[in-house]
Amino acid sequence: MGLLNGKVALVTGAARGIGKAIAMRFASEGADIAFTDLVIDENGQQTIDEIAAFGHKVKGYASNAADFEQTHEVVNQILAEFGHIDILVNNAGITKDGLMLRMTEAQWDAVLNVNLKSAFNFTHALCPIMMRQRGGSIINMSSVVGVSGNAGQSNYSASKAGMIGLAKSVAKEMGPKGIRANCIAPGFVITEMTNKLPEDVRKAWEAQIPMRRGCKPEEIAGVALFLASDLSSYVSGQVINVCGAMNC
Ligand code: NAI
Repeated sequence: MGLLNGKVALVTGAARGIGKAIAMRFASEGADIAFTDLVIDENGQQTIDEIAAFGHKVKGYASNAADFEQTHEVVNQILAEFGHIDILVNNAGITKDGLMLRMTEAQWDAVLNVNLKSAFNFTHALCPIMMRQRGGSIINMSSVVGVSGNAGQSNYSASKAGMIGLAKSVAKEMGPKGIRANCIAPGFVITEMTNKLPEDVRKAWEAQIPMRRGCKPEEIAGVALFLASDLSSYVSGQVINVCGAMNC
């Protein structure tokens, strides 16, 4: 008996990385999986095939999470094809780092739109559905830098702090309807997002981590499973740091 038997989970930006690991973990616990990404290319198709191996329904949807209209359309399509949506993971995210003095308006807008506005878009589309279903779990993929800030990442840190404020507010507004909302704040996770950093920057990050290693995407997925399932049935409005004691 899986922890998510009979549930439908929607994970944004899940063709690879942390989102993919979460979708796989949820499927391994019995959930049907709808996921989005900008395109469903060979990466996305491979993700579909790997999830399908767990024997549950899976479909990938090409959709820009930063686009309000597209998000509402894709959520309606998923609802029509899956029947219900019980779990939302707002995972799609990008970085466009730069020091404040050099940050452009385009860098600011892109990161705020993809990371924070996307979470609003999906939460806005899903709340009425979850209210009708009398329950749901929303998980925002924040970051330790949203809790503590980081030089060179004012746009990214602001977007991730915004996701925390969003989850806490939704937890308070939607609690009476049985909807929970929480955040995961990962530290340094080994994915394509961090692999593109220069070697010296990656080494410097790892040196700051008391556990002396980066996090595996699967280690974030385990916490997401806890927040998605009834194991956390009285946990709402919280931020769980998953950072090898870097931010404690
Ligand atoms: P990644 O870059 O490997 O994967 C992100 C996925 O989001 C990609 O598949 C990408 O195509 C998709 N995406 C980007 N823009 C999109 C859009 N507009 N619409 C739909 N999909 C879009 O990144 P990773 O590392 O897996 O990160 C996942 C989440 O975790 C992000 O929100 C990131 O900010 C967050 N995070 C990552 C950390 C890390 O160290 N890797 C640390 C803390 C948070």
